[in-house]
Amino acid sequence: MAKKGRILSGHRPTGRLHLGHLEGTLRTWASLQDDYECFFEIADWHALTTGFEDTDLLRENIEQVAIDWLAAGLDPERSVLFVQSDVKQHAELYLLLSMVTPVSWLERCPTYKDQRQQLGDEKTAGYGFLGYPVLQAADIVIYKADTVPVGEDQLPHLELIREIVRRFNNIYGPVFPEPEAKLSRFPVIPGTDGRKMSKSYDNTIDLSDSPEVITQKVRKMFTDPEKIYKGDPGHPDKCPVFFYHKIYNQGRTQPIKQGCESGELGCVDCKVEVIEHLLAALEPLMERRAELDANRSLVREVLAVGAEAARAVATDTIEEVRQAMKTAAAVTTNP
Ligand code: TRP
Repeated sequence: MAKKGRILSGHRPTGRLHLGHLEGTLRTWASLQDDYECFFEIADWHALTTGFEDTDLLRENIEQVAIDWLAAGLDPERSVLFVQSDVKQHAELYLLLSMVTPVSWLERCPTYKDQRQQLGDEKTAGYGFLGYPVLQAADIVIYKADTVPVGEDQLPHLELIREIVRRFNNIYGPVFPEPEAKLSRFPVIPGTDGRKMSKSYDNTIDLSDSPEVITQKVRKMFTDPEKIYKGDPGHPDKCPVFFYHKIYNQGRTQPIKQGCESGELGCVDCKVEVIEHLLAALEPLMERRAELDANRSLVREVLAVGAEAARAVATDTIEEVRQAMKTAAAVTTNP
C-alpha cells in the first residue's frame, strides 16, 4: 500500500511520560503507523541543551521513554524507534545547517525567549540551547520527513525549520522537502490541579504510576471550586474530573453531567467512577509496561534495530548533502 508520506517526531527523555503525552501524542502517533512511514526519535541530545549538568538519569530516562512508547502501541515492526545520539549523521547535518542559519532567527524564536525567562541563565545561556531548533531541523530533514506530528507548542520551531530548509535549498539546490506540522486532534489534557498536565506543574498522572498511586492522585484532584458539598450544583465543564469522564467513560458522560449539575452526584462518587474507568483503560498498557520493564534487553534490542534502520536512511541523505555542499567527504569515501 502506498504511504501518504514520511513522519518524524520525538520526545526528549526528561522524565516519565504521563497521560498528557499518552492522549495528546502517543495515541496519535500509534494511529499514523499504517498510513505513513514513521520514524520516532528519543531526542537525548536535545535533553542535554538544558539538562547538561545533571545526566545521571539520562540513560534510564531513555529506556523509560522507550518502554512507554512500546506499551502505548508504537510498533517496531511498523515504525523505526531509535535514540538520536545513536545516529551521528544528525550531528553532521546539524553543523552544516548551522552555517545557513542566522543567529537572529534563533534569538527571535518565541520558545527561546520564553524558556530563557522561565529557566534562567544557568540552564539556557548555552550555544547548544540557542541551536535547539537547528538540531531539530536536522532530526527531521535527515529522513526527508514531510510530516511532523507535534503539539501546538512546537509550531514556532516548525516555522523556523521550514525557513532553514528554504534557505538551504536556495543555496545548494532542492535537497529537502519542507516539513509540515500535523497537529494532534486531541485536546490538551488537564492535570490533577486543573492546569495543563505538565511535569513542571507537578500535576501529572504518569504511565508508570501504580493503580494505588493513580487512585490517590485522582481522589485528591481539583474539582469545580463552587461545588463544595454533595448537593451543591456543579459546573462539569470547569472540572478536570469531568474531562477524564469524557475520555475514559464516554458512555456515561450525559448522566454524570446531569448528576453533577443537579447536585445529585457528589464529587467523591464521581471520582470513584472515573478511577474505575481510567484504570480499566490503562490496564493493558500497564501490563505491557511491566513486562518490558522486566525485560530491558528486549527494549535495548528494539532501539539497536531502530538505530540501524535510521542510520541506513541518514547515511544516504548526509552523502547527498556533502555532494550538494561540495564538502571534502563527498570526494573521499568517509562513512
Ligand atoms: N522539541 C521536541 C519537544 O520538546 C522534541 C523533538 C526533538 C522533536 N526533535 C524533534 C519533535 C523532531 C519533532 C521533530 O517535544
